[in-house]
Amino acid sequence: MGGEEQNKYRKPIAFLCDAGYRCSKSAVVLSLVGFLFMLQLYSLATHRGAVKGDIQLRVSRHPLVRELEQVEEENIQVPPPRKKRSPPASKWRHKRNTALVNEFLDENSQLRHVFFPDMKTAIDPVKAAGNESHYYHPGKFWLDTEGNPFQAHGGGILYDERSATYYWYGEYKDGPTYRAHKKGAARVDVIGVGCCSSKDLWKWKNQGIVLAAEQTNEAHDLHKSNVLERPKVVCNERTGKYVMWMHIDDANYTKAAVGIAFSDHPTGPFEYLRSQRPHGFDSRDMTLFKDDDGRIMVGQRREAPALFKYQGTYYMFTSGCSGWAPNEALAHAAESIMGTWETIGNPCIGGNKMFRLATFLAQSTFVIPLPGIPGSYIFMADRWNPAELRDSRYVWLPLIVGGLPDRPLEFNLGFPSWPRVSIYWHRKWRLPLT
Ligand code: GAL
Repeated sequence: MGGEEQNKYRKPIAFLCDAGYRCSKSAVVLSLVGFLFMLQLYSLATHRGAVKGDIQLRVSRHPLVRELEQVEEENIQVPPPRKKRSPPASKWRHKRNTALVNEFLDENSQLRHVFFPDMKTAIDPVKAAGNESHYYHPGKFWLDTEGNPFQAHGGGILYDERSATYYWYGEYKDGPTYRAHKKGAARVDVIGVGCCSSKDLWKWKNQGIVLAAEQTNEAHDLHKSNVLERPKVVCNERTGKYVMWMHIDDANYTKAAVGIAFSDHPTGPFEYLRSQRPHGFDSRDMTLFKDDDGRIMVGQRREAPALFKYQGTYYMFTSGCSGWAPNEALAHAAESIMGTWETIGNPCIGGNKMFRLATFLAQSTFVIPLPGIPGSYIFMADRWNPAELRDSRYVWLPLIVGGLPDRPLEFNLGFPSWPRVSIYWHRKWRLPLT
C-alpha cells in the first residue's frame, strides 16, 4: 500500500470521531483496564493465599522446617583491596566480581580461614557425638568413616532402593592443581570418579574410585590429560544396570561432550562406553535427572544445572559462567521438562547480600529430597578452590519450596505463577528428622 493510500485510510477515522464518540471510547478502554487490574489483584490475592496456605500447611505438619528457615547473617568485613594480589587472584579478578568474590579468589587473603576452614575444624561424623551429631557445616572439611576428607566434587547422589543406601559420586581431584598452559583454567589431571556410600546422608564410607582414568592411551576420552567433570548415576530399572553420565572434554574445553559408563553394581567398577555431543551441540556442565515416570533428560544451557520436581512442577538451579569463580545462582521453573523454563530469581536467603550474589561462595551441583519432609530438599553445591582444587569444599543447605518469587515474570503481567524456591544459609544445620 502506497503512502498516500495509507493516509487515505488513517485520516477519516480521526476526522469522523466527534467529541462524544471519543469520550465513550476512552470510557470503554478505561473500564477494561480497570477490570483487568481488579482481576489481577484478585488472582494475586488468591495466589498469595494459596502460597501462604501451602507454607502454613507444611510448617504445621513439620514444625522442624521452621528451624531450617531461621537463616544466619554473615558479617564478613571485606578488607580494602590490596595493591598486589597473589597471581592467581589477579588472574581471576574480574570487574563483574564483587569485592567478596575477589577476596575469595585471593590465595593470600586474610579471610582464607573463613572461606576454607582448616583441618582443625574438620567434621568427623564418627567422632561427633550427642549434640554435635548429624550437623552439616557448609565449607568445613567433612571426613569419611576412616577420618579422611573425601573426593566427590561436582557430584550427585543416587538412592539405591535395593540396598537402601545413598551413593555419592563426584570428581576425584586428589592430585596437584596446575594450568595446562598460561591461559588455561586451573585443572587437576583426570583421576576418575570417586564414590562414597551412606545410610543417613551424614556418615560417608569411602568406596574409592569407581571409574578410573586411562594412563597410557592418549586417544581415550578418559586419558588423564583430558577433563572428566560432574558425573551422575541413575539405575536403569529395565536392565538393572547403573548408568553414569559425565562431562567429557579436552584440556581446552573444546570437545564439549557427554560420556556414558555403566556397571552392574553401584560401587562399580564402571565400564566406559563412549562420548557424544547431543544432537551435535556443545555440552559442558550437565546433570542427570530421573523423572518419576522413568523419563530421563540430560544437559542444560547455563552452567551447573541441578534439577528437582515438586507437585508436578520442575525446578532447576543454574549458575552463570565464570569458571571456578562463584557467581549468582538463579532458579527456574517449568510445567514440562522440555520447557518453557521461566526464571524465578535468586533463591539464596540469609548470609549477606554479597554472599547471596555469590551463592554462598559455591556453585550448584545436585538436589536431593530431604527425607520425610515433602517440599524440602538438600541443595548440594561446591565451594571450588581454584588454587588447590582437591581442597574444594561441599556446601549443603536446606532448600524449601514456598513463598513468592522475587522477580516479576515477563508473560504474566508481572504476577508470579510459581512459588519461590529458597536456599537458606546456615553455618551449621541438621536434618530435622534425625
Ligand atoms: C565451571 C564449571 C566447572 C568447571 C570449571 C572450569 O564453570 O561449572 O564444572 O568446568 O568451570 O573452569
